[in-house]
Amino acid sequence: MMRPPLVPGTPEAREALLAAATAAAAQAYATRSGVHVGAAVLSASGRIYAGCNVENAAFPLGNCAEPAAIAAGVLAEGAAFRIAEVAVWATTAAGEPFAISPCGGCRQRIFELATGSEVPVHFTWPDGAPRTVAIGVLLPHAFRMAPREAPRDP
Ligand code: THU
Repeated sequence: MMRPPLVPGTPEAREALLAAATAAAAQAYATRSGVHVGAAVLSASGRIYAGCNVENAAFPLGNCAEPAAIAAGVLAEGAAFRIAEVAVWATTAAGEPFAISPCGGCRQRIFELATGSEVPVHFTWPDGAPRTVAIGVLLPHAFRMAPREAPRDP
């Protein structure tokens, strides 16, 4: 039976996103950095999609976890897919928690498909504390191809 859609901004959504990101991090192919990253996005329609990072011996190659999660969402929901909430989680190769926030490029990727600049992003700061920061705060004055794209709040 299909799970009922999750509501963005609820404790249930946050918990499910963190669980999905944690499970995704365990699948990572992070043989170069040893940083195993999982990302989970909640779509506006209440579904969770997850992804992990995949590295390559040719160092500049490799993908972050966030675009993998976004690609899964677009594959499932098509071009109408929009992101309502995000969680990122990482561990060392030994499985110890490793604090990261989304990299600059991934902030741009999330922003473009976010339902708005207030979309919450959950991550862990190096002090070990969980943080929730809006994508518009993580990436102020984001690049957008105006006027082709609908204007959003700052
Ligand atoms: N990484 C992600 O997957 N997402 C981020 O937002 C930050 C960095 C990955 C890339 C690389 O495989 C590893 O973390 C170490 O940089």
